[in-house]
Amino acid sequence: MGSIYLEELSAVGAVRFPDIPLYQGFGAPVRLEADLRDCEVISGAVPKDLNGILYRCGPDRQYPPMGGDDIFIDGEGMVVMFRFENGHVDFRSRYVRTERFRIQETHRRALFGRYRNRYTRDPMAQNCNPGTANTNVVWHGGKLLVLKEDDMPYELDPYTLQTIGRYDYEGTIKSVWMSAHPHLDQTTNELLTFAYQAKGDGTTDVAYYVIGPDGKLKHEVWFNAPWAGMVHDFAISDRYVIFPFFPLLTDVDVLKKGGPFYTWHRDLQTVVAIVPRYGTADQVRWFRGDTSFAGHMMNGSTDGSKVSLDVCLSRGSSFFFFPNHDGTPPDPNQGIPHLTRLTFDMAGNTESYKTNQLYDWLCEMPRADDRYYGNRTYRKGYVICHDPSRKSAGGIGLSSVGQFDHPTGSAKLWNPGPDSGVQEPLFAPRKPNSSEGEGYLLALVNRLAENRSDLAILDAQNVEAGPIALVKLPHRVRMTFHGMWVAEEALSTGRYPAVRTA
Ligand SMILES: [Fe+2]
Repeated sequence: MGSIYLEELSAVGAVRFPDIPLYQGFGAPVRLEADLRDCEVISGAVPKDLNGILYRCGPDRQYPPMGGDDIFIDGEGMVVMFRFENGHVDFRSRYVRTERFRIQETHRRALFGRYRNRYTRDPMAQNCNPGTANTNVVWHGGKLLVLKEDDMPYELDPYTLQTIGRYDYEGTIKSVWMSAHPHLDQTTNELLTFAYQAKGDGTTDVAYYVIGPDGKLKHEVWFNAPWAGMVHDFAISDRYVIFPFFPLLTDVDVLKKGGPFYTWHRDLQTVVAIVPRYGTADQVRWFRGDTSFAGHMMNGSTDGSKVSLDVCLSRGSSFFFFPNHDGTPPDPNQGIPHLTRLTFDMAGNTESYKTNQLYDWLCEMPRADDRYYGNRTYRKGYVICHDPSRKSAGGIGLSSVGQFDHPTGSAKLWNPGPDSGVQEPLFAPRKPNSSEGEGYLLALVNRLAENRSDLAILDAQNVEAGPIALVKLPHRVRMTFHGMWVAEEALSTGRYPAVRTA
């Protein structure tokens, strides 16, 4: 009886997600587009000086994956927003109507196979742009853009979250896609961004772009990476941009056989390119160091001839869902990240760089005070981290919000309690001209036992004190990757106030 029923389901193409951990518990697809005016505030009070919108996005599978299995970074982009207005918080969630989403909606099933592998698509989707718009959200030049590193951005209405369309900067961007980790310099109102494998799968071209305050391409540099690999994030300072190349490589022959988009090459070094912010390809400076890996950068800075990159660095890949090239099993101990400062001497004549671990805590999803990206220096940083006083519930247990002050080495954390996890904290200044770190941290909290989410509003100068307010959602926001806080004045004017002084 059961098998007949299953056959019937299969015949009509019923939606049923595979019974694997990825889609169980808090990871179960939500697929819900919701509007909730005046969310419940279950403790404290929402500060009335916090006015603007918190945007985040993450993957939320529209249909069960074609192959029956998947990696968690795949899935259609779901954007969530929390609009803060005079102590009130309104919630909204919407799928991004990418080309991929729309063709799958028409056919009522997944049409894209293995992650980023174009050779495993359904032939119907062969000429469809593949982006899921599931990684990051940025407000720049009066446009709200949702990003995934294998496609152009998608523009959304900043208030309704209605998809306006795929955006290629009026044809001026010549790479075939753009990174999901641009960095915004809120003082110059420039967006610094890039593309890797910029001419297509397996190419070594890197395109670095400066988008001006008017949203138009202002400067670009094309150069070649040491290999065709992943460049998920980069960092910027006042005078330089820093591109680390970790040995997670793409091989088109492997793709043609239906294989993974990346494999980890533990026999290769780390290579770093430092490019003058408005420089040219012949000014790119190269450095080399021990094999290492990082997903995300906290920030870059410049001190005389020294350039620093603060990065959540591990000895081996922490993206365990991409296999080792040599067929060995992944070693989780090699993939544990710590915030580490890499220092490069632009006046020296060596290719080596200094490596200095800054804190003992395991941490990822690093952020700074957004007004201090593109600055000469910065001192405040925020992460999700492992609370050394608590036993991990699994994995490396990055279930706390951490707050760092680099010059003093001070590290504080807030743990949301049992059966809870946290997502990347985002900084919101109290006022446009508040000092660095004076403001709030906004972090989604996963209430695993209750299968729903809270939004915690923390004092960014004292996370240990616990939330100033907890905003309750009656439902679950599946893991989101990144996003940003956009203050009301930046939303209404399309520009950020130039307030940095350091
Ligand atoms: Fe990321």
